[in-house]
Amino acid sequence: MLLELWKHPRPAVPVFRRDGQVVVASHRLAREVLADRERFSAANALDAVVPIRAASLRVLASHRFRLPATLANNDTASHAPIRERYGEVFAPARVAALRPWLTGLARRTAAGVAFRLRAGEAVDLDAAVSSEIPLAALARLMDLHDSAATAEVKRFSRAALELFWGDPGPERQRELAATVGPFHALLRGWAAESTGATGDVLEAYGEDAATAALFFLLVAGQETTSQFLTLLLHRLVEEPGLLESAPGLIVEEGLRLLPPITSWRRVALRDTELGGVPVRAGDSVLVWLAAAGADEGVAECPAAMVPGQRGSRRHLAFGAGAHRCLGSQLSRLEAEVVVAELAPLLPRCVVVAAPVSDPNLSFRMPSPLVVRLR
Ligand code: HEM
Repeated sequence: MLLELWKHPRPAVPVFRRDGQVVVASHRLAREVLADRERFSAANALDAVVPIRAASLRVLASHRFRLPATLANNDTASHAPIRERYGEVFAPARVAALRPWLTGLARRTAAGVAFRLRAGEAVDLDAAVSSEIPLAALARLMDLHDSAATAEVKRFSRAALELFWGDPGPERQRELAATVGPFHALLRGWAAESTGATGDVLEAYGEDAATAALFFLLVAGQETTSQFLTLLLHRLVEEPGLLESAPGLIVEEGLRLLPPITSWRRVALRDTELGGVPVRAGDSVLVWLAAAGADEGVAECPAAMVPGQRGSRRHLAFGAGAHRCLGSQLSRLEAEVVVAELAPLLPRCVVVAAPVSDPNLSFRMPSPLVVRLR
């Protein structure tokens, strides 16, 4: 169940134990867990869900793969300064300045999709729209200009999400490790030559930390938004009436009901309780972000997608507290611009192949969304 949370309705109870984890589904308790650093640490955020076997660990080690605490998994003293430095990279003003360029990119992308559809082609919106735009925006903000290398980022990031959060068997683990390892080694090279924020992390905390920061940012900074776009575009093709609302409002309801990260982990630092369920020090606590967004009382109609309804922004799709997502402004802007530019096209489309998600603890990773003209 935990590896396919999106298939399950919200549970009747706010907290329960399953597969050795404490699962938190209520909005109030989810926020409490995410924000309370005295009782819950983010140190387990990047731990592999299925323990990585010795053979695959050897493959990773041969590429000097390491993920020391830097951002999402860091509750040491270095978290605040590292976060602050990258906060400058993703500062609201820098993100807002991307709007004209992003609009142009999304407009050209939409025109290309329209052309192919008019020619009678069935088009995979995941490949044609969702996967390209977030990576291009991230590359621009982070000054990554090597397009061959950025294409590698895409292949590698899905492998990383499957290796660490999916359910790969031993053979698949080895294949994934053979993709993730060399990419990590490539990032080590980038980190060693970095200036800017990563260069500062390199100087203050060393090469492993700078590589780990790049690793996380290059995955979190684009794959999440790509997945969100595909989930949202699918919903909009199926329910074109939603497009009568403003794009920004549609995006917010999408984040609330279709978060690409369905759950996120913390680890209990001491014995405590949540909603009457005892929690022991060392327990993994799975915060079910998707269930929290649809909880009673969060929005006026919590289970329905009603753009602009009261409470629409109260979701936890970006987490909460000291680790709250640094890229929320960027992903909102990207999604808003894409929805705006594709809005005239989507009501004329019909779904040929709906996206499906493989088992994964946290990431939806939807497969292609293929559409054609009605
Ligand atoms: C729809 C897209 C996205 C979603 C749903 C999302 C969601 C999340 C979540 C749930 C967390 C964990 C928060 C917590 O532990 O409380 C997180 C952390 C983070 N996200 Fe995102 N994210 C998205 C896009 C992005 C983008 C575009 C970037 C960068 C440009 C980014 C950068 C980060 C960073 C750096 C952290 C760690 C922050 C810290 O530990 O201080 N994310 N994100």
